[in-house]
Amino acid sequence: MKSLHVSLLATLMLAGCGGGSSSPKEEAPKLTKEELGDLLFHDANLSLTRSISCASCHNAEHGLADARFRDPSHGNPVGGALSLGDDGLTLGGRNAPTAGYAQLSPEFHQQSDGSYKGGQFHDGRAASLKEQAKGPFLDSAEMMMSDAQSVIERVKENDLYVSNFKTLYGESIFEDAEAAYDALAEAIAKYEKTEEFAPFDSKYDRWKAGAAAFSDEEELGYTLFFSNNNTNCATCHALNTESESPRESFTNFEYENIGTPRNYATLSAKGLSRDTTDLGLGGRADINDSAHYGKVKVPTLRNIAVTAPYMSNGVFKELRTVIAFYDHMAGQGGHALNPETAQPWDAPEVNATINHEVLQATKPLTEAKIDALVAFLKTLTDARYEHLLD
Ligand code: HEC
Ligand code: HEC
Repeated sequence: MKSLHVSLLATLMLAGCGGGSSSPKEEAPKLTKEELGDLLFHDANLSLTRSISCASCHNAEHGLADARFRDPSHGNPVGGALSLGDDGLTLGGRNAPTAGYAQLSPEFHQQSDGSYKGGQFHDGRAASLKEQAKGPFLDSAEMMMSDAQSVIERVKENDLYVSNFKTLYGESIFEDAEAAYDALAEAIAKYEKTEEFAPFDSKYDRWKAGAAAFSDEEELGYTLFFSNNNTNCATCHALNTESESPRESFTNFEYENIGTPRNYATLSAKGLSRDTTDLGLGGRADINDSAHYGKVKVPTLRNIAVTAPYMSNGVFKELRTVIAFYDHMAGQGGHALNPETAQPWDAPEVNATINHEVLQATKPLTEAKIDALVAFLKTLTDARYEHLLD
C-alpha cells in the first residue's frame, strides 16, 4: 500500500521544505486536508516543550500505539501501561489504544435500549475523531499546551501551515483561534480517516480474499472466535453477532465491563491509593450513571498482537493472559491463577456491572484453544507490522 505519509514527505522534500519549517510563502506546496493533518499529526512543535506529537503515542511503525516503552532508555516506569507526557515525567490516565481502525467507530450515541455505542477514547467522551483530536494538545498529561490559542500560535510559526490553513479553511481562519483549532482538528481527523489507518491487509483479510492460507491452528482459532456456541468473543468483538462483516472491525463499539482488575503498579507509580477506581463510561460527568460504571468501549482486536500491554489500564502484558482471564471470568473454575503473577486474579475493579451472562456463555478455554485463539489474533496484524510478530 502506498503510504500517504511517505509520499507526502517526498513531495515536501522536492519542494525544499523537508523539515516542514519556513519556506517562501509563494512557493509553499498546496496540501490536501489529509496531507495537512498528516504533518500536524507528526509535529512535535505542537507540544509544550516540542518533545512529542500524536505519533509519539500512536506510532505508525508499531500498530499506531505507544511503543516508546520498548526502548529501555525511554524510562517508562510502568512498562508502557500508561504513556509519558511532554515533560517525560507525567503519566496519563489510561493505556494508549491504537488509532488504527478508529475511523470505523460511529459517532457516540445512545441506543434505544439505553446502552451507548461509538465515540473515541475508552469511555467514548469524544463523539468523533475531530472532537478527539482537540483533546491531546491540551491534556495536562499529554502535549500539555495551555489553550487552543497557544496551539494555534505554534501552527502560525510554520509558513507551510499558514498558507494551507488559509487556502483550505479561508483567508480569515486565524482571526478566530477557536475556528482555527477546529480546522486543525478536522485536518487531523481527515488524515485518521485515510487508508493508512485502516489498510485491511492483514493475513486474515488476505485469507478472506483467497490470497493467503491459514495454518490448521489459525483456522481453529478463527472457528472458535466466531462460533457462538463455543466462545463468546464475537458477541462483543464483531460488528454483528451472527456473522463476520466484510470490513470486520473486531468490535461492536459498545460498552462493557468484563471485570478487568485494577492495575496496582500504575496506581502506585502515580501515588494513588489502591482503591482508586476508574468508573469508565458511567463516570463521565455528562453520563454520571452507576448502571454504566466500569464499562469501556470494546476495543478493536486489529493489530492486537503488536500493541501490548492490554486492557484500558494496561494490566496484562501477554495476549495469552487476556484469554486465560476470559476463562477465569467464564466462572467454570478454569485458570484460577493469573499466569503473569502465578497468584489468583485480583478482584474486578467494578463488580456490579460485569456482563456475567455473556462472559459465562463459553466452553472452557483449554491451553490448546488458547494457543489457537492467539494464533488467530496474530493474523489480524496489518501487513506492515507482520515483521514485528515473534
Ligand atoms: C502522551 C500520549 C498521547 C498523545 C501525545 C496522544 N495520544 Fe491519543 N491517546 C492516548 C491515550 C492514553 C488514549 C486513551 C485515553 C482515554 O481513553 O482516556 C488515546 C486515545 C486516542 C484515540 C481514541 C482511540 C479509540 O479507539 O478510542 C485517538 C483516535 C487518538 N488518541 C488520537 C490522537 C491524536 C490525533 C493525537 C494528537 C492530537 C493524540 N492521540 C495524541 C495517548 C496519546
Ligand atoms: C462482554 C463483551 C466481551 C466478550 C465476550 C469478549 N470481550 Fe474481549 N474485551 C471486551 C472489553 C470491554 C475489553 C476491554 C476491557 C478493559 O479495557 O478493561 C476487551 C479486551 C480484550 C482484549 C485486549 C484488547 C486491548 O486493546 O487491550 C483482547 C485481546 C480481547 N478482549 C480478546 C477477546 C477474546 C479472544 C474473547 C473471546 C474469548 C473476548 N475478548 C471476549 C469485551 C469482550
